[in-house]
Amino acid sequence: MLEQLQELRARAARALDEAVTAEQLEQWRQEYLGRRGALTVALRGLGQLPADQRPAAGRIANEVKTSLEQAYEARAEAVRQAALVEELARGALDVRLPGRPQSVGYLHLSTQTLREIQAIFSQMGFQVLRSGEVEDDATNFQLLNMPPDHPARDMWSTFYLNVPGLLLRTHTSPGQVHAMRRYHPESIRVILPGKCYRYEQVTQRHEFQFFQVEGLALGHGITMADLKGTLVNFARQMFGAERRLRFRPSYFPFTEPSAEADMDCIICGSKGCPLCKYTGWLEILGCGMVHPNVLRGGGYDPDEYSGFAFGMGPERIAMLKHGISDIRTFFANDLRFLQQFA
Ligand code: FA5
Repeated sequence: MLEQLQELRARAARALDEAVTAEQLEQWRQEYLGRRGALTVALRGLGQLPADQRPAAGRIANEVKTSLEQAYEARAEAVRQAALVEELARGALDVRLPGRPQSVGYLHLSTQTLREIQAIFSQMGFQVLRSGEVEDDATNFQLLNMPPDHPARDMWSTFYLNVPGLLLRTHTSPGQVHAMRRYHPESIRVILPGKCYRYEQVTQRHEFQFFQVEGLALGHGITMADLKGTLVNFARQMFGAERRLRFRPSYFPFTEPSAEADMDCIICGSKGCPLCKYTGWLEILGCGMVHPNVLRGGGYDPDEYSGFAFGMGPERIAMLKHGISDIRTFFANDLRFLQQFA
């Protein structure tokens, strides 16, 4: 019996060494330690031994049982570890690797410039008013003193919608009409930022879609001196005191008198280059005193009220500030350009 037990122990130990999967291990457990397993059967045979041999045989049998149970536990743990290692290698989750960095968005240069402009004008008491990009002919042209046959309309040809009379606004100036209708008969001091569209030959300084910021100050006794003071103050804060701004007489149907303001060209240092058309200056805005017809159209009596208005191009302003030589880069969506202003 004792030899039988030792032989069983040796056989079981060899078989256990060969069990490498969880299934093989379970099979081994049933074969040796299970209810009908070899060891259990051998233990049952102990009862048939003569009484004097039973204690020694029982002790050995218990030793064999304990050692096989311990060997099984150790082997089971080793198989679990091996399975885990294999799983990690296959699953490709290496917790020691650094995480993937998330790219954080940032504001487009046009938006950044719009916000700078808004901040400067809000310090001067202007509030921001929004108006839509789709306008009707009356607001984009007629109420701005441009009846249907007016030649100045040629300068502002735009995109028309399928609905007759509706168009994409060519400038933010129709916002003047919305502001007057909204605030009449109060005094007004607003800026109206937004996108404009033009049937335009796209060049280094002209896009067919671009932003404008309209400004309107309306009240009693407002003069051209207020207009100049406001815009010079804006230019100093935006570009610095050392940069130069010049006013030049111009014509707009909706202002009288009218002017345009130019900044010295940063690209060539005012020496002359293709961007500034070899003049040394780059136009950034149009402005003037609100025409009496426009005041009337908004419900304001021109004998009582006066006001100034301006419309500036934020992309042109950003070009002058950052030395950008081509406006087409703004909406070409090349990240190499845009990321320079992150
Ligand atoms: C106007 O649009 C007038 N509504 C401005 C105005 C407002 C005058 C109120 C008087 C009173 P103009 O077409 O010049 O004017 O455009 C004004 C500014 O918008 C320009 O100085 C320029 O900075 C910008 N701009 C005009 N056209 C383009 C374009 N195609 N691409 C980029 N910026 C442009």
